[in-house]
Amino acid sequence: MRHFGLIGRELGHSFSAKFFNGKFASEGIEADYKLFEIEKIEDIHSLLATTPLSGFNVTIPYKESIIPLLHELSTTAREVGAVNCVEIRDGKLIGHNTDAAGIQASLHWLDLAEGTKALVLGSGGASKATQYVLRKLGVEFKVVSRDSGRGDITYAELTPEIIAEHNLIINATPVGMFPNVESAPQLDYESIGSDHKVFDLVYNPAQTEFLRRVKEQGASTMGGMLMLQTQAIASWHIWQGPKQEQN
Ligand SMILES: NC(=O)c1ccc[n+]([C@@H]2O[C@H](COP(=O)([O-])OP(=O)(O)OC[C@H]3O[C@@H](n4cnc5c(N)ncnc54)[C@H](OP(=O)(O)O)[C@@H]3O)[C@@H](O)[C@H]2O)c1
Repeated sequence: MRHFGLIGRELGHSFSAKFFNGKFASEGIEADYKLFEIEKIEDIHSLLATTPLSGFNVTIPYKESIIPLLHELSTTAREVGAVNCVEIRDGKLIGHNTDAAGIQASLHWLDLAEGTKALVLGSGGASKATQYVLRKLGVEFKVVSRDSGRGDITYAELTPEIIAEHNLIINATPVGMFPNVESAPQLDYESIGSDHKVFDLVYNPAQTEFLRRVKEQGASTMGGMLMLQTQAIASWHIWQGPKQEQN
């Protein structure tokens, strides 16, 4: 029996536990996936000493603070600066970032046109993974932040012209996430039209207020569920061994 799990602070109802335990049951894989809430990242040492994990995912607030405790990092994890999947090989902890693969799959589905320019809302961990993917795809972008020190532009500086000029808008903030399902990023929605493609990383609810509003303006949309599933499948491939490892 192999053991996997998710490490975070407040895990509540986790998508990952349902996803992996469902996969193990339906495919007859002798493994389980459990949730491990820890108070501080250093608690991972005692957790691993008592629980023989074969691999684990990492979530808020430990995606960055886990890095100094790892033996190696994949190229993607190093370039993003965050880890959401840890492989345990020969006693070594190797950090990966599979959120980037999830973002790339979602953007691929949106079928971006040549010359696409993007606005990335938010400057946190999910925004950093998004920026990494956009750089890799050669998509020019601006980071929109509430604070002028953290992004390229603030919401107040976002004119209708700037919105019209950027045909891809990505919400990498928790705005609109359950239970605050009525909220949406502060934008001039009138400036969004049928040339816009909009990706909301939030997956609960499946259709956020943000996506509802931009759809009303004619934009094409993608929610966060494909990203969530893709990062979980990519984690599983990594735990299967080096041949399928994603760098
Ligand atoms: N679908 C998936 O698989 C997946 C994976 C990872 C994350 N996510 C989702 O992506 C979202 C962001 O995740 P994260 O880990 O990057 O979260 P985070 O670090 O808590 O927040 C990201 C950024 O959002 C902005 N922000 C936070 N609260 C805000 C508010 N009330 N109004 C406007 N902006 C606000 C902040 O940027 P500024 O301070 O610069 O404005 C913050 O740095 C979450 O909803 C998460 O569920 C989805």
